[in-house]
Amino acid sequence: MRIVRALAEVEPADGLVPTMGALHDGHRALFRAARAENDVVVATLFVNPTQFDDAADLAAYPSDEERDAAIAEEEGVDVLLAPSAEALYPPGFGTWVDVDETGAEGAARPGHFRGVATVCVKLFNIVRPRRAYFGQKDAQQAAVLRRVVRDLDLGLDIRVVPTVRDADGLAFSSRNVRLSPEERERALALPRALHAAVGSDDPVAAAHGALNGLEPEYVELVDLGGATVLASAVRIGSTRLIDNVLVKGALE
Ligand code: PAJ
Repeated sequence: MRIVRALAEVEPADGLVPTMGALHDGHRALFRAARAENDVVVATLFVNPTQFDDAADLAAYPSDEERDAAIAEEEGVDVLLAPSAEALYPPGFGTWVDVDETGAEGAARPGHFRGVATVCVKLFNIVRPRRAYFGQKDAQQAAVLRRVVRDLDLGLDIRVVPTVRDADGLAFSSRNVRLSPEERERALALPRALHAAVGSDDPVAAAHGALNGLEPEYVELVDLGGATVLASAVRIGSTRLIDNVLVKGALE
């Protein structure tokens, strides 16, 4: 595996997996899916400052490049692109990909999807992949990026990989390390409530009813093309967690 920092040194590849590092089994599933479908897989490691609506969240974002590089290499990634913030946002940077109507998750995090869409379009242009891999875990993000690709005629396939969960049912997230054991126990109400709502006539109401005292920021249905997921966000102490489950159709 080659580690590259200069954008000019990236060669075109057919498979792209964007990440912010602090890699876990969810990221591994994306690498594996990309490895199975492409000749050359580029993964990116970049904590994108423009998508953080909370400076404390950015400052506390976990990072361990050596460990991340070992995981990416283990999963067959060919090139790990780990640019500096100055490389992606040089002085004078001032062009943004602005997305209309990003749903309850977008409303809860002003500017977040603008930062995500902007950095992803930059990465698509740097790597020029045929396929880019994203997790169902961030369903609203995948929906936004599918729309960006369609609206801007980017001509690549956004592949959505099912959420990977830890043994207790909590979806893997780089932010899980911030939960105390007691907070983690409380957080389990989120996946439990979402799963309990599957099959109900009104899954949004059913999830609200099953949240066991947790106050969600929202519960919403997200359309992913052939699939609909039931998504929610909760705050446990100072940690914000999101999760979703499939309620209709299948991921593609
Ligand atoms: P990050 O949070 O590092 O996630 C990178 C990719 O891994 C995303 O597509 C995310 O949906 C996926 N992922 C995270 N947890 C997962 C899980 N438990 N199961 C399956 N997939 C999972 O999402 C971002 O970074 C950034 O917004 C990025 C797209 C890199 C743009 O900066």
